[in-house]
Formats: sequence, C-alpha cells, structure tokens
Amino acid sequence: MTITTEEELAKLKAIGSICAQVLDKMAAALRPGITTAELDDLGRILLEQAGARSAPQLTYDFPGATCISVNEEIAHGIPGARVIQPGDLVNIDVSAEKDGVFADMGASYVVPPVTDILARLTRDGRKAMWAGIKQVAPGAPLANIGNAIGKFAKKNGYTLITNLASHGVGDSLHDEPGEIPTWPDKSERRKIADGLVFTIEPFLSLGGKYAMDSAKDDGWTLVSRPPALCVQYEHTIVATKRGPVVVTLP
Ligand code: CO
Ligand code: CO
Repeated sequence: MTITTEEELAKLKAIGSICAQVLDKMAAALRPGITTAELDDLGRILLEQAGARSAPQLTYDFPGATCISVNEEIAHGIPGARVIQPGDLVNIDVSAEKDGVFADMGASYVVPPVTDILARLTRDGRKAMWAGIKQVAPGAPLANIGNAIGKFAKKNGYTLITNLASHGVGDSLHDEPGEIPTWPDKSERRKIADGLVFTIEPFLSLGGKYAMDSAKDDGWTLVSRPPALCVQYEHTIVATKRGPVVVTLP
C-alpha cells in the first residue's frame, strides 16, 4: 500500500493500534503454565472485540489467530498444547485486518528467569529493528535498511536470518513491493516510495543464518539453521517526508 489520503492513513493507524494492543495484552498474559493455544485464544477474542480479523487466518488459512513461536521455533509457530515454561523465549506475531487494511507486528519476550544472554539478545533485537527504521525516508534506497541492520548485527557479534524478509503491507498482509531484505543485499536496488507502507522485522540471532521447516513437519513452524537462539521485532511503518511513521503503537 502507498498512502495517498488521510483516510487511508487513519485506517492503517486504527488497525496498527489494534495489533499493538493485542500484542501487549498477550505478552502480559505470558506466564509459566499457560499453553500457546490459551494465549492465542486471548488474541483471537481481543481481535474480534476490536472488529478485526486475523490476517494469517484470512490470507493463508493459518491454524491460529496469531503466530506463537517458542525457543527453537523462530517464526510461524502454530498455537497448541505447548505449555510455557520458566525461561522460555516466546515470539508473538500479530497481524490483522480491519476495514480492508492490514497491519503486522511482532516481538520476542522472555518468561522469567531471564538469563544475561537472553536479556542482551532481546534488547539488541529491538535495537536492530530501530537501526532499520531510522533509515526510512522517501527516495532513500531500500537497501539502506538491510545495510544498517547488518552493520549493527556485525558490530555486536550477531547473525541475521537471511531468508525471512520484511514486506509491503496494507492492502494485503504481504503487499507490494514484495519482500524487503533486512540484511545486506547487493541485488536490492529499489528506492523507498513516498507513502510506502511496509514492515521492518529483522531476525537477530546468536548464530542462526536461515529459517527452515521444523522437524514437526506441520507446514508452518520454522526453526533456525544452524540451531541458535533468535529474536524478531516487527513494526509496520509508513515512509513520509517528515520521517518514518510507526503505526503499530498502542
Ligand atoms: Co511481517
Ligand atoms: Co508479523
């Protein structure tokens, strides 16, 4: 989606705010003993109450309202019987549609006790996302985003998952201009259009380089190759002349 009217922006901000509020409430409910299905039920109910529809369900028939990925799982985890344990690293990804407009957001959380390694990884995962967001300006190369995130990762001793991209969003969950690399990619030559709506969602890892299908073979759950801890933070952004506008805020 490319924003051309105030009405479009208002609709995008409305669904962005819903995603952020749902994610916050799911994160607040995260505790040892809760199952990922129970957590997802909360998300489903909150989306319904807000008049929104789960984007992965609507778009891909995903078997859940939200994606919940625990520890070795890094993305697209299916909510189910898995019981959250102390010390778990949990990624929750909420994307939804209202009034024909989609927004997408995700974050990783640690269930206490929090090890030093996970405290650092989660803090730096957010920083990696913001390193990318700061590059957003109409007319700037899209590659600046992945280059900035790559520089941050390298400087701080991390790897990036390089086959799970950011993407356009708005008129659909995965919208024009298609995939956007959140890692250095010399083949990326496009410029950021004024009003372009897209996600920035780097997967920062302690050694992981690619996402691959999990041994569960459920058609959705992705794990890291090589196996390594990994976090993802995601916002939906609009590129405006006044700077990046983050719409996935409560
Ligand atoms: Co996304
Ligand atoms: Co997402």
